[in-house]
Order: sequence, then C-alpha cells, then structure tokens
Amino acid sequence: MNVQSPNDLRAFWMPFTANRQFKQNPRMFVAAKDMHYTTADGREVLDGTAGLWCCNAGHARPRIVEAVQAQVAELDYAPAFQMGHPKAFELANRLVDMAPEGMDHVFYTNSGSESVETALKIALAYHRARGEGQRTRLIGRERGYHGVNFGGISVGGIVNNRKFFGSLLAGVDHLPHTHLPEKNSYSRGEPEHGAELADDLERLVALHGPETIAAVIVEPMAGSTGVILPPKGYLEKLRAITRKHGILLIFDEVITGFGRLGAPFGADYFGVTPDMMTTAKGITNGVVPMGAVFCSGAIHDAFMQGPENAIELFHGYTYSGNPLAAAAGLATLETYREEGLFDRAAELAPYFEDMLHGLKGLPHVMDIRNLGLVGAVELEPVAGAPTKRAFEAFLAAYEEGVLIRTTGDIIALSPPLIIEKGQIDRIGEVLSKVLRALP
Ligand SMILES: Cc1ncc(COP(=O)(O)O)c(C=O)c1O
Repeated sequence: MNVQSPNDLRAFWMPFTANRQFKQNPRMFVAAKDMHYTTADGREVLDGTAGLWCCNAGHARPRIVEAVQAQVAELDYAPAFQMGHPKAFELANRLVDMAPEGMDHVFYTNSGSESVETALKIALAYHRARGEGQRTRLIGRERGYHGVNFGGISVGGIVNNRKFFGSLLAGVDHLPHTHLPEKNSYSRGEPEHGAELADDLERLVALHGPETIAAVIVEPMAGSTGVILPPKGYLEKLRAITRKHGILLIFDEVITGFGRLGAPFGADYFGVTPDMMTTAKGITNGVVPMGAVFCSGAIHDAFMQGPENAIELFHGYTYSGNPLAAAAGLATLETYREEGLFDRAAELAPYFEDMLHGLKGLPHVMDIRNLGLVGAVELEPVAGAPTKRAFEAFLAAYEEGVLIRTTGDIIALSPPLIIEKGQIDRIGEVLSKVLRALP
C-alpha cells in the first residue's frame, strides 16, 4: 500500500492543468466569499473569471448555501429513473419560464459536456422518431468548444482536444470559425464583418444532402477558445438556413446562459431562438454540478408516443435532477432575480468594455474583444513558444491578486455579475501592470 500524506500532491491528476508546473508551485484556494477567493497563504484574490465561467452570482451567497445545507438534511438523494422529487420539477418550470418562447422542456445532466452529448443524442433520436432516421450527420464549427466527451470533441473544433483521441464520431463536418482579425480587430461588441461565413452551411448542405443532416451546434458566442464573437447577422443566417432544410439548431449556452451577456441566454441577447440549448455552470452558480438541455415542444412531443408504460428516451444519468443540485438551482435563480443580476451585467457592460479597450496599445496586445461581461485580450505569442506569454501573465496577475484565465495566448475575463466598478478598475490596473512587466 502507498501511504501518502494528505498534502502530497502526486495522486490527483489535475484536469486541463500543467500538472508538473502546478505541483512545483501550487496555487490553492481554501475559501471564497462574494468577489474574492482566499489562498492557502491567506491572500485575497479578486475573481475575474467567476470560477470557470460559473459563479455568476459570486461566491458563498447565503440563499444558495442555506438551500444546499437544508436539502442535504431533508432529502439527500432520490433515484432519477422512474421516481421524482418536487424540486426537480419546480426548477424545470422556473427554467422554462425564464427561457426564450418555445423552449418548453428541460432534460437534466451534470455538466456542460453531458448536456452536449444529450442534445446531440436527442437530435438523432428525434429525427428517427419522425421517420427521418437517415439524418445522422452533425455539424459543428472550427474553434468551437463543446466539452470533452466524444460527441462534444467531434463537433468541437479545438485541435488539441481532438487529435489525441482517435477517430471520434463519424459523419461530422465543421463550419468555419468567425474570427477575422484582419477585418474585425478591436471591435467593441459584435463585429461588423463576417455574417456571410454562415453561408458555408449551404455548401455543406449541398455537399452532403440536406436530408442527411440532423443538427448544427454552435456557441452563440464562443468563450473557451478565446472569446470569438458572432458577426452581426451571422446567427440569424444560421437560423434561416437550418430552418429551410429541416436541420435542428443547437445553441451551446454553457457560458452564455444565466446572464453572462446581460440577458438570460445568448438566444435572448441575439434575438435568435434555436431548437435546443445546452446549459450548465451558472444554472447552480457552480455550487453543485448540474446541466440542463432545453428543447422545444415539437422535439419533446415527437417522443411522446407508443405505449404509456414505455420509456420514451433511452438516456439519463444517476444524478439527473439531483436534489442538492435542484435546490442549488432554485436558490441561484432566486438570487439572480432578487438582485437583478442580468440587468446589472447589461448596465456594467459599457464600463467593462471601456476598461478593456483602455488596454489597447500596451506591450504585446494585438486585439481586444468584448460582449456583456466577457472580455478577451489577445497577446502576441512569444516566437516559437505559443501560450507562454499568456501563461506568464496569468501567473503574474495571480501574484498581484487577480484571477484571470488564458487559452492559447488570449486572456479571457468573465467576472461574477456582482462585480463593482472599482473592482473592474482594479482588473484593468493589474492587467496593465502585468503586461508592461512581461518580457
Ligand atoms: C460552450 C461550452 N460547452 C461545454 C462546456 C463543457 O462544460 P463542462 O466542463 O461542465 O463539461 C463548456 C465549458 O467551458 C463550454 O464553455
């Protein structure tokens, strides 16, 4: 038997982390409250990323803490299959009430990745239920992130998330990404150029035949690959083309859901309603793992046939609608509502935008992008060492007491929606200091 002390860091293989670097120089959080984390060495770190884009209401919010504490004492777990508990239904009703018109049902999962797998499976089974089982092809997008499971990495477009893992799902194609720095750099909000990139879907439809395509999945705003925004008119075009050919449109709203853009969902912000939305993260403020797939009445109803005692969809998770997650979800939605946090995000967005664009001209900065309370500062990579510069900025900002996130050489910011203007200023000051000091 291997006997290891509790503080031995070897056993835990950390996700999406430079494990060897981390374990030489660990960065440990031991507490969190509102806008701040506390580190193991007792420092306060301002949360510029809402954890991992999930703690939209900030940390340790009383309503959510109390709801989870009470729930675990009252009903800790109920079987998810063939049994129910009231809060899962109550939360589903609340979610549907706040969703765009027509998103009438939710299917619970435990993460964004599982929400994506669920939506892709529902899309395939939906067409089959309607007698169009030949619609098996799935279309994603370059630089898309849809989690890490096989469906998600297949429709996703991040090379390192794909290339190590075999041949992935068959029958997947990709739209081009919408990052056009030569035309759109330093855009404030949605960029002007590139709506025509959606027309590529017509090319894929012509190539494969419309009757073979089940669904198109995109993030309304791509977060994880460094904040790539939809050009004005792009999502409307995708909606029109998918509708014309009977193809389902899935918005992956794992990041854009729950107020990040200053509206309940990206679909609301952009005024484009898909057939399904995948969500997670902000649904419980990140406190208990949970995801939900929203789908239209038409999709749901297509399954509700056959004998009444028959299972309609052969899919589900042990923890779908888990009582703790449901309690956290209800308290989270109530916190968002009570504190008007989605409106607050919309009100703060111009201030946040000004802070970000004020970084233009600093050393290494090649582009700045923003939407709602999301921001990106793209840095010139060190020649021959991609990601190095941004990672150094991340470490330096952490030392200065601000948590940022980086993907590639892009710094991404997504603070909790409770952030104060003075804290936005502080993020700007720290970034400015860090960028000036970088080699
Ligand atoms: C758009 C999108 N989809 C899916 C996921 C995966 O979510 P999870 O890490 O909860 O599986 C993420 C995570 O960042 C995401 O941004």
